[in-house]
Amino acid sequence: MPRLLIFGATTPAGDACLRQAIGDQGLALAVAGRRQPPDHPAVPFFFCDLSAPSAAAAAWSDPSQEGEPLVAVSFAPIWHLAPYLARQLAAQPAWSMGLQGVVACSSSSVLTKRYASNGFDRALVRRLSQAEALLQASCEHHGLAWQILAPTLIYGRSGTYTDRNLSRLMPLLRRLPLVPVPKPTGLRQPIHCSQLAAVALHLARALATGGGSADLPRHLPVGGDDTLSYQEMLERLQRLANRGGRTTLIPVPARLIYALAAPLLLVSPKRFEAVLRMGADLSGFMAAHQLLQRPPEPFPLHPLAP
Ligand SMILES: NC(=O)c1ccc[n+]([C@@H]2O[C@H](COP(=O)([O-])OP(=O)(O)OC[C@H]3O[C@@H](n4cnc5c(N)ncnc54)[C@H](OP(=O)(O)O)[C@@H]3O)[C@@H](O)[C@H]2O)c1
Repeated sequence: MPRLLIFGATTPAGDACLRQAIGDQGLALAVAGRRQPPDHPAVPFFFCDLSAPSAAAAAWSDPSQEGEPLVAVSFAPIWHLAPYLARQLAAQPAWSMGLQGVVACSSSSVLTKRYASNGFDRALVRRLSQAEALLQASCEHHGLAWQILAPTLIYGRSGTYTDRNLSRLMPLLRRLPLVPVPKPTGLRQPIHCSQLAAVALHLARALATGGGSADLPRHLPVGGDDTLSYQEMLERLQRLANRGGRTTLIPVPARLIYALAAPLLLVSPKRFEAVLRMGADLSGFMAAHQLLQRPPEPFPLHPLAP
């Protein structure tokens, strides 16, 4: 029975992946991380601090399952995973753990923030690109299959875990009487944590059975099934947050919002650029449903933040 070792299980997508994989009788599961996922006490857990130089060959050995193919799936930051994996593979040959491949989440920021003018985002892109290159080099050196997923905006809830971007807007959309919405805005392709989980699981299963997905790029930017403007995204969330209809969205010319945000440039160039990015099209990524060969699901999927 193929084995999956899941890193970053204490994230919405990691938790969703674990839940979907538990439902799959054909997989043996284990979780590695700094905290055991509290909702899944029956899944074997290995303590592993990815950023500790001494971590943790024990996470990989499971004599009872010896010989079964193992795939590592990670929803932890790739800049922690990649150096850890390089150390692990240097300490313990891949064949001795049955390791066949790695599916790791990076971020579409590696593409969308590539030409950012603020230092914070440029440093992020550097960190992501270096980690991706290291992961690729380690896997190829040790003869492992690898797949990097570069998801765009992840939203939604799984178990006790909720995203930290769109869910932050929900209370505002519930409480404020008026919410300004820039118009026009750029496009977004938000992906629900359960969709990202399904994509990662699909790819991991393919690596575990030796099938792989020869026609897919190894570095795969991935998004949700719906591409919509930032404005439309807020409107759909507002309809859900506010079934009684208390909040009114007020369209405000985007240029006026950019002009009003200009002082931010002095305090936080990163935040100023985030405001400008509302006008950028952060979309055009492979849609989850294409990869999973399912009918498309419109934004937003449930569950969302409570
Ligand atoms: N959020 C987004 O919109 C977004 C967009 C694009 C890409 N991504 C990528 O998608 C994945 C999930 O994103 P996220 O925002 O939900 O989670 P995140 O904050 O990037 O990662 C948190 C997860 O990583 C684990 N982790 C962090 N440092 C660790 C360490 N030193 N050792 C072991 N585990 C460690 C955490 O475990 P603990 O329980 O131990 O803290 C937790 O499970 C990440 O790879 C992220 O880079 C996210």
